[in-house]
Amino acid sequence: MKLSEIVFEQVETVPGWLLKSKCECFDDVYSSLYPVVTVTPPLAVEIGVWFGKSAIAQALMIKALRIDMQLVAIDPWSADAALDGTNDPANDRWWQAQNFEEAKSYFEDELKLRGLRRFVNVWRDKAENCVNEFEDERIDILHIDGNHSPEQSMADVMLWLPKVKKGGYIILDDTNWPSLSDAVRYMGDNCVLMKEVSEEGQGFALYRKSKAW
Ligand SMILES: C[S@@+](CC[C@H](N)C(=O)[O-])C[C@H]1O[C@@H](n2cnc3c(N)ncnc32)[C@H](O)[C@@H]1O
Repeated sequence: MKLSEIVFEQVETVPGWLLKSKCECFDDVYSSLYPVVTVTPPLAVEIGVWFGKSAIAQALMIKALRIDMQLVAIDPWSADAALDGTNDPANDRWWQAQNFEEAKSYFEDELKLRGLRRFVNVWRDKAENCVNEFEDERIDILHIDGNHSPEQSMADVMLWLPKVKKGGYIILDDTNWPSLSDAVRYMGDNCVLMKEVSEEGQGFALYRKSKAW
């Protein structure tokens, strides 16, 4: 059984969104870090955590592959942030009705229960408020899955791309949503598209950063 299949089964009960193909993609990029020996340990960042389905999957891979690295999981867990920008009214109503405290507590509890706490740094804030905490070209793997509005998705790619290493990976969620079209164009102009998946109303793309900033 492949690591991605084991991990996918292990996060099946976690609320949220994770395509099997995205789990395979995490397996590919984390496995690619495995034999690399560097002075500074590799670093991964996730923007948009919710109940932690994709963050827990990544942490399980870090643990299974025994990679000396951390995932910084960033989410403000607030309706206010989820409603920023221009989103579909139905999407806004859905987020307005959610219990963000429950999502955050569930995530933190699962990290403890699964022995994953040491692999994950949890930052409760909007991603744009955290970006300057990172040096340019520091991040090896960036998963962008925050607010999907045109304004916020564009801000996420523009602000965070300089923080990814040359040769680093960026996984952008729901690239098949019309609201992501500007962000997708920006990524296409500045990175190499490695893989694109569109299924079940969801999707994602995997990019590799092609040049230094
Ligand atoms: C689609 S969900 C993330 C799903 C999650 N990755 C999973 O595996 O199920 C989007 C998340 O983005 C968060 N979010 C909204 N605005 C944000 C911002 N400015 N910075 C970081 N996260 C944000 C929301 O609170 C929400 O939890």
